Amino acid sequence: MDSLIWMLFLAVKIIFFTARGCACTEIIGGREVKPHSRPYMASIQVNKQHVCGGALITRRWVLTAAHCKEFWKNRKIEVILGAHSLSKMQEEKQQVLEVKNCSPHPQFNWKRQESDIMLVQLAGEAVLNMYVSTLKLPKSTDDVKAGTKCSVAGWGRTNPEIQNLSDTLKEVNLTVIGRKVCNSKAYYNYNPFITKDMICAGDKKARKDSCKGDSGGPLICITKFRRKKVYKGIISTGDGCAKPKKPGIYTRLSEKFLNWINETITVKTQHDNKLSCA
Ligand code: ARG
Repeated sequence: MDSLIWMLFLAVKIIFFTARGCACTEIIGGREVKPHSRPYMASIQVNKQHVCGGALITRRWVLTAAHCKEFWKNRKIEVILGAHSLSKMQEEKQQVLEVKNCSPHPQFNWKRQESDIMLVQLAGEAVLNMYVSTLKLPKSTDDVKAGTKCSVAGWGRTNPEIQNLSDTLKEVNLTVIGRKVCNSKAYYNYNPFITKDMICAGDKKARKDSCKGDSGGPLICITKFRRKKVYKGIISTGDGCAKPKKPGIYTRLSEKFLNWINETITVKTQHDNKLSCA
């Protein structure tokens, strides 16, 4: 009798986990997005496995984090657009595009976690519709002040070795933490050094955060001016996930990076080279 109850309990648990996904594998402390409410979200996949998020910025280019390239070492990379659930292929909504080229920022420094930004050129043009659309780059490169409300989204997982995805797209609201605080002893203590090209964002109780697999996805902030939602950063790094005084670290879309984006897109579009992303 006892074992029967135990088996029943296990079965319920398995059903629950496969249906909901492990709570530890997603954006931390967030919620499922309204399906297709973030039509610019891209899932970057290696051998059909999600590795990073990204944002479609033109019909041919996705902006993501440079460290995402570590996952793909000469393997076939695809970008999925218009997805909500990664397991349920809704072909009429999703677009799967091959990657033609990638340009990690030349100053990307893994150790210092600097310039964690990369452009991915798609082999074809995305068709823009209700499910797939571009996210506008910011017009202003003004800094994001401490206390600014932002949000992030992603299909993140806890461990790159464990193939445990959040099947559906999740989102969470975060608050910007000033650089002075973020660099202070109690926080990151200059390890890494949070530069002007980076943003710290989290929440007071450290319950909300992005996590592994969310990298590359956009940080969208509400500006004071007309309270518009503006693309301000890219999910980059952090010490663990949702740890007290260890908020997520984001690449800021600073003037330097915006200039680099515009230059790269112009140059690469002119010199149409072969399929490669090594
Ligand atoms: N580096 C991670 C990735 O590859 C994202 C880390 C975000 N971490 C955080 N605590 N906010 O997906």
